[in-house]
Formats: sequence, C-alpha cells, structure tokens
Amino acid sequence: MNFDECIDRRCTESLKWKLYPADVLPLWVADTDFLSPEAVRNELKKRIDHGIFGYGLPPEGLDQVVIDRVNRLYDWDVGQMDISYVPGIVTGFNIMIRSLCKKGDAVIFQSPAYPPFISSPETVGLKAVHNPMFLGEDGIYQVDFELFEQQIIENDVKVFILCNPQNPTGRVFTLKELEKFGEICLRQGVTICSDEIHCDILFDDHKHIPIASLDPEISKITATFIAPSKTYNIAGLHASVGIIQDEALRKTYCEFRQYLVSNPCLLSLVAAKAAYEHGDEWLKEQNAYLQANRDYLDQAIHEKLPGIRWSKPEATFLAWLDCRELGIEGNLQEFFIENAKVCLNDGPTFGKAGEGFVRLNFGTTRARLEQAIDQMAEAIAKI
Ligand SMILES: Cc1ncc(COP(=O)(O)O)c(C=O)c1O
Repeated sequence: MNFDECIDRRCTESLKWKLYPADVLPLWVADTDFLSPEAVRNELKKRIDHGIFGYGLPPEGLDQVVIDRVNRLYDWDVGQMDISYVPGIVTGFNIMIRSLCKKGDAVIFQSPAYPPFISSPETVGLKAVHNPMFLGEDGIYQVDFELFEQQIIENDVKVFILCNPQNPTGRVFTLKELEKFGEICLRQGVTICSDEIHCDILFDDHKHIPIASLDPEISKITATFIAPSKTYNIAGLHASVGIIQDEALRKTYCEFRQYLVSNPCLLSLVAAKAAYEHGDEWLKEQNAYLQANRDYLDQAIHEKLPGIRWSKPEATFLAWLDCRELGIEGNLQEFFIENAKVCLNDGPTFGKAGEGFVRLNFGTTRARLEQAIDQMAEAIAKI
C-alpha cells in the first residue's frame, strides 16, 4: 500500500481532524491517517451490500482466528471459552475495575499514563495510584519495582492496569519486567488487567509478550485485552477482544457486563476478522513505514528541535516529547496550536509526570510529519 498517500479526512467525521481549526495539523488522538487494509474494506462492502443488519453473532470462525493468532505470535494456548468481544478496551478495563473493586479501593498503573487509566477509577470513587516510570542511564524508561510493590501495599491496591506496550512512552516490557510484575501481583493478591491494544505495532527486534502467557498462575489473575483497532486503523468501528482464562474471574467480568455492555457492532467484527485473517502483509509494511517515521523524528528532534528530548519508542506511533528545556510557561498544547499550527496532546493529561511534555502522533504521512516538524521548529526559534 502507498502509505505516502495524503487522504483528506476533514470531509469525514474524524475526531482528530475536525476538532481544531482547518489550518491546524492534527497529530494528537491515537489513530493513523492510513487506509485500512483492502481485505477489511472489501469484507465490509460485501456485508453492507447484503443489506440486512439484524442482531448478529460474532462471524463464524472469528474465535479460531484469534486462537490461532495468539498461538502463532506468542505460543499462547487460549480456549474458545476464554474469548469474548467488547466494543472498546476502555470499556473492558472499566468492567474489570468496577466489578472487582468497591468504593475506596485502589487501582495502580505506570505513569505517565493513558488518561482514562487516571480518570476511570476516580469517576467511580476508586483511588488512582500512579507508579512513576523514570529514565534509566541508557535513556530508556524504566519501572521502579520496589516502589510499585510498596505502593500496592500502602494503598491496598486491588487491580493493576498494565499497559504493554506502554502509552505514551512506547516501552515494550521485557520478559524479565513482566515476570516481576507477575510475581508482585501474585504475592500481593492483585488482579492484572492487561491493556495490550498497541501490541502489533513494534519496531526493531522488539517482541510483544502477553503477561498472561507467561505462566498459568499469572493467567489465573489476568484479564487481557487486545484489538485490531490501532493496528489496522479501525478504532472508530469499536471491536476489541477480551481473553480471560480463569473461570471465576471470567464469571465476575461476564456477570457485571451483562445488560450493560452489548457485543460490538456486527460490522466491526466483520472488519476485525478480515484484519486478523488477511492483514499480516499490510501490517509489516505499515510497521516499516512507522519505523522510518520514528527514525526521521529522531533525527529531526536532534537537528531541528533544540530543547526537545525523547526516548525513542520501541512500539506504537506515539512520541513522548520532553519540552521542559524550552521553558515555555503555560499550556504546551496551546503553545503549539497557536504558534506552530500543530495539535499535540498536552502532557499533564497523562498525569503529573507529564508536566512539560507533549505527545505527538507520528501515524501519518511523512510529508505531513515533516511539515509539522518544520512548523514546530519555526515556533521554537521564535521563543
Ligand atoms: C493504552 C490504550 N488503551 C485503550 C485505548 C482506547 O481503546 P478503545 O478505543 O478500544 O476503548 C487507547 C487509545 O488510544 C490506548 O492508547
């Protein structure tokens, strides 16, 4: 596919492209500007042409496609009973925390954090505990595991929302790190809700490992959520996959969601099946394109954006930019909208650890990315 093709999205209902004025380049909300794979578009057209959209079941064979995929990619054995579908991963982890916690209980996650990890617990009277990541000497974001366990004990944490790969730092947690998370959660009786929405967009030799695939004991305390949404640019269709292997945990989850959360729209599941079944080659090409964008960005940050630092992401199409040296007072998102006509995500929405940072979405064409960098460089030069 030609990932360089600049497709107009303002003529659609796109959140990313419609929320800000037409002269602002939107590099914020996490979807890409790429056409989804042809197989996905064709299967949707076929289903639409049938013309009847009554109540549906998941498409025949979708469970097996998921089972085969996780087995092939991660050597993870999952049964048909373990799989369910949910419109979104935010919905999935909300069902988990709401079904497992009572008012006043605590939920922990690494920070900076995907904003709904912070706001979802707080909305229902739960405590959101931020476990801050730090930059190691090697320039890679790290987890302070000692602090993580201490925070779990001190706050009587019930659920750990693991984000792997991590949004916004782009870290892919290693086997060793995942084992440590697993050990601590087992020791402290904490349930793991593993948000693996970014698991397919990987760079260099990084490999994704679902934490539940490590060991049956860890699998017993884990609910995993994956999705074709970010991977194949179908987030607006709303289909995600929950994998819960422990019968009791699955029962808690299913009983809570019944009557509250319906299955995903039938078209979204048609798209999900086509993507998982026929999207491998397209995904390889997309990841190569995104990796080249990431490498361009690495060079551009050094050469054109003095005062901005980053840690090269290992996965995702998200760049976490440290702008503290720029010394800009006030809201950085507003600064870049006003002065560079580029819209980024404001760091503090990812928690206190995000002060002085912005998140840039490089899931766009190289031409648009270069234009955004040039406009940001001009704005910085004028400070
Ligand atoms: C870590 C993470 N989880 C969940 C979501 C959204 O998931 P969904 O649209 O399936 O609710 C995002 C979107 O950016 C994300 O980055």
